[in-house]
Amino acid sequence: MTRSCAILLSGGGSNMVQLVKSMAEAGHPARPVLVMSNDPGAGGLARAQAMGVATDAVDHRPFGKDRAAFEAELTARLEAAGADLICLAGFMRVLTEGFVRHWEGRMLNIHPSLLPKYRGLHTHARALDAGDAEAGCTVHEVTPALDDGPILGQARVPILSGDTPESLAARVLVREHELYPACLRRFAAGERHPIYLN
Ligand code: GAR
Repeated sequence: MTRSCAILLSGGGSNMVQLVKSMAEAGHPARPVLVMSNDPGAGGLARAQAMGVATDAVDHRPFGKDRAAFEAELTARLEAAGADLICLAGFMRVLTEGFVRHWEGRMLNIHPSLLPKYRGLHTHARALDAGDAEAGCTVHEVTPALDDGPILGQARVPILSGDTPESLAARVLVREHELYPACLRRFAAGERHPIYLN
């Protein structure tokens, strides 16, 4: 059974581009049905349209603090598109337990650190401040706790002398583009064991 994958993003969508490209590979167990954003101006929406993928946006701002109402609209649109698998790819809204429970077992996230280190924001600056020798990225299943949930894959990046948060982020992003498609393909095929890329 081919899975119907929706990708949620808030920004430029470079991970989304790699996920969509990967799903065009022969025999891939998923296909992209929707790219959705909380920001109608997100650059990733235009990039998805250019690749022929349906897009949608639910602006979170009119919902104010009512996150549940915002997410109910997201779920309605996702289900209308037939999505049965969600990839968060730079989606910068914290999700409520209700939304996560609804999609649990069907929702992945990529996070720019070697979890469980550095949940939340500013991961690269925090790795540099701590004097870490390496950084990286993690793909995991989404559970209600922030940046938690079973790990599906990690890729490591050495920290170089002179690295800035920006230079480190750029090198980690290159690995994200390898890791996320690999993890999506395995997950959509029912494989739950993590992969570790060096
Ligand atoms: C990526 O580095 C992703 O790991 C990060 O946002 C960036 C999105 O880039 N996600 C998070 O920080 C989630 N908390 P992209 O829009 O080019 O894919």
